[in-house]
Amino acid sequence: MSFQPPKGTDDIGAPESHLWRAVLREWERWADLYAYPLVMTPIFEATELFERGVGGDTEVVSKQMYTFTDKGGRSVTLRPEGTAGVVRSYLASGVKGAWKGAYSGPMFRYERPQAGRRRQFWQVGVEYLDVEGAVADAEVVELGYRFLAAVEIPGLEVVLNSLGDEVCRPGYVALLRDYLDANRPQLCEDSVSLIEVNPLRVLDCKICTPVLIDAPAMRDSLCGPCAAHYAEVKEALQLLGVPYHEDARLVRGLDYYTRTAFEYIATGLDAAQNAVGGGGRYDGLAEVLGGRRIPAVGFALGIDRIILSSRLEPAMEVDIFVVSETTPLDGLVAASVLRGQGLRVDFETEGRSVKAQFKAVSRLGAPAVVVVGGRNDVEARVGEERAMLPLSDVGVWVKERLR
Ligand code: HAM
Repeated sequence: MSFQPPKGTDDIGAPESHLWRAVLREWERWADLYAYPLVMTPIFEATELFERGVGGDTEVVSKQMYTFTDKGGRSVTLRPEGTAGVVRSYLASGVKGAWKGAYSGPMFRYERPQAGRRRQFWQVGVEYLDVEGAVADAEVVELGYRFLAAVEIPGLEVVLNSLGDEVCRPGYVALLRDYLDANRPQLCEDSVSLIEVNPLRVLDCKICTPVLIDAPAMRDSLCGPCAAHYAEVKEALQLLGVPYHEDARLVRGLDYYTRTAFEYIATGLDAAQNAVGGGGRYDGLAEVLGGRRIPAVGFALGIDRIILSSRLEPAMEVDIFVVSETTPLDGLVAASVLRGQGLRVDFETEGRSVKAQFKAVSRLGAPAVVVVGGRNDVEARVGEERAMLPLSDVGVWVKERLR
């Protein structure tokens, strides 16, 4: 008998994990460049946090949560997304004023698994809290875009919309409901059932596209402040050179959004899972969670989908392979010294023949080899170049040639 990973989850190791590591490293670099410090929140939270924060009517909460009762009789849920937990932690910390956080970790949704749609999947994201201005939205959209461009997502597009706020959205929802009602016979069953409860979500329906082309657009119903905010976001993105297009049907699947909503699309992937990320403003979420009003904006990107479409060539994993002509222990000691000089080193621990060790060099693609014999000096090789050197000088010699 052998155990398989649970349905919709994956085991990820080399060589596939080279790309994961390269992408996650790139993420850390961009989060750092935009000055978003790391934030870590628990992988499970009180179920009510997501019911209230994400919304009880959303698919994520009503159908996809991994919820269980713990030994203390509390209902807890494996986080289906990161935003609610981050806002909860900000409220709990008592911190005041503008605050930034970047996260990276697994999320859980009970979905029908397919490529790019997993039950355990990895998100990276940022949240920028207690900021009102459109400039914050633009910074956030830009960060996600630059990172995705750096990890070489082909056909990358930013799709943008405004969902209005509590002032203008109710009027728009009424307009949309009237329109949908008038076109009831042409809508699919699921859409009809949404007309009363959540007409905005009908806009997302891929089947009803022909009917929805003429549906009223939120951007035509925005109140003055929301329209001004939206115009400022667009102006800032133009100044930053971040290309985007507007889509009045972009509504997002979570309830907390207000004003700016956006998605990053990889046009090379299947339409069902070509959203490599999404986000937006959520000015009302903190209040829904029992706190004061904290305007905020953020996004999350799906690393599993990024891996599927990234054109990055994963970085070389090893600089030097140490070949020992004597014992594996001599190899270990030499490797340790070279690692201390800041080089990535591998060697062979089982005392195989020198020939077998050289095979490992080509298998790993190590660009440098250090041959350790019984002498004081070792032989360093990079390409055709060779030198007999004391071990202490090898790091510098190799680095000069690998650069
Ligand atoms: P979301 O759109 O639900 O937003 O998820 C963001 C991204 O996570 C998706 O675009 C997709 O790439 C990835 N994703 C979602 N579900 C799966 C899955 N089952 N398998 C693989 N990848 C998946 C959020 O989660 C919000 N918290 C984003 C946000 C942050 N809004 C404001 N701040």
